[in-house]
This record gives sequence, C-alpha cells and structure tokens, in this order.
Amino acid sequence: MLVYEGKAKRVYRTEEEAYRIEYKDEVTAGNGEKHDYMTGKGRLNNLISSGIFAYMKKHGIDSHYIERISETEQLVKPLDIIPLEVVVRNYAAGSIVKRLGLKTHQPMTPPLVEFFYKEDALGDPLLTDDHIAMLNLASVAEVAHLKAQALKINEVLTAMMKEMGLSLIDFKIEFGKDRDGVIMLADEISPDTCRIVDMESKENFDKDVYRNSTGSLIDTYRAFYKKMEALI
Ligand code: C5P
Repeated sequence: MLVYEGKAKRVYRTEEEAYRIEYKDEVTAGNGEKHDYMTGKGRLNNLISSGIFAYMKKHGIDSHYIERISETEQLVKPLDIIPLEVVVRNYAAGSIVKRLGLKTHQPMTPPLVEFFYKEDALGDPLLTDDHIAMLNLASVAEVAHLKAQALKINEVLTAMMKEMGLSLIDFKIEFGKDRDGVIMLADEISPDTCRIVDMESKENFDKDVYRNSTGSLIDTYRAFYKKMEALI
C-alpha cells in the first residue's frame, strides 16, 4: 500500500515490519519550479543511496536502511519522520551564500549545522532552536542529539568522499523515530541531497548540474557511482 509519494520517491507499506522505497525517474529543483523526467535516475539514486547507507553502517552510523531489493527499490525500517531538514555545511554554497553574503566555498570551521522546516507550502524556512521548540517539532535534548549525529555523519561522509577524490561541500539529512522513540537517520543520501565537488577541478558531482543547467545530470550521477563502486 502506498503511504507517501514525494518528488523523487514512493514509499509503500509491506507485509513485513518494513517500508519499500521506490526511487522515481524524476528530478525537481527550486521547490518544484524546475521538473523533469530522466530515464535511469531512480536506479542511480537507489544504487548510490543504498551504497552510502551500507558504508555508513560499516562505520558505525545506523539508519533506516535494511537492504536494496532491486535496481530501483530498497527496504527500510518504518519510522515517523521528524519534519526537519538538517543541513551540514563544510564550505559555503547555495542558500547560505545568498542569505549571509558569504563567498562560495569559503570554509565553515567548525562545520555549521542548520535546521529547516520540512514544509513545502512555506518554502522550507530556516528554523532556530527556539522555533523548533515553539512548533513542538523536537525537544531541546533531541535537537542536541540531531546536531551531534549530523556532525558524526559529516565525518563519515567526508571521509568517504575523500576516498573517492571528492570534497563534501554540504548535505541535507532527515531523521525519524522508530516505535520505541529511537531517533535514526532516514530518507536518502545521494548527489540529490549533497553538494560534492572534485578535489582538484572543483567540478560538481551533484544536483547543482541540474539546478544551474551546466551538464547532464545522468552522466554526472553515473560518473559519481563509478567512483563509488570502486569503494563499496
Ligand atoms: O539550498 P541549500 O544551499 O540550503 O542546500 C544545502 C544542501 O542541502 C545542499 O546539498 C542541497 O542539495 C541539500 N538540500 C536538499 N533538499 C532540500 C534543500 C537542500 O537535499 N529541500
């Protein structure tokens, strides 16, 4: 049974204690302003996200990911998603450059953690800790836990990208709670949700290629997956 359909995925309830996520051949940017169908995109996102979650697990980061069951589908633990987008930034790019007038790729030392409200109708606004408490989205202790987890995930993901000759600029993650209230990494991690550039050439290996119309998204993700395949 379909329980959720997002811009890039469908989530189904299964017979077992699991959800099945199907990655769609669709890509959007700018809160749906730009939208395209791309054959093979769902497969690439599924292969990449599955590989990253498996790498995370090997390096001590639990997530909702159970296993990849086909080219375009994976099984995950059923979680209640916390409606927060947690963004970690190692270098300035995207919205923070516009918001604070920073220089693109200016280092963020220490890495910066930001929270956005996962609410399309409001355009996913930036939230302070006090906003999160006021909206009852998470407790003070949970916010501290999410920040600490996000920074730990940043360390593992940065190391993984480095092994691939890439530099992790920033990324967005989501968390959910299982039925015992345990908070766990959820959603996906892929070039759709990260900014990643080649260490030397600074060429983008992420969705900025689509956002800025600077190349083929499928060719870019295929090249990313090829680098990743050597690692996993
Ligand atoms: O747009 P912004 O610069 O805040 O994005 C920061 C990071 O979060 C980028 O890697 C972007 O791909 C990711 N992101 C996302 N989904 C959103 C917003 C941002 O994956 N809705």
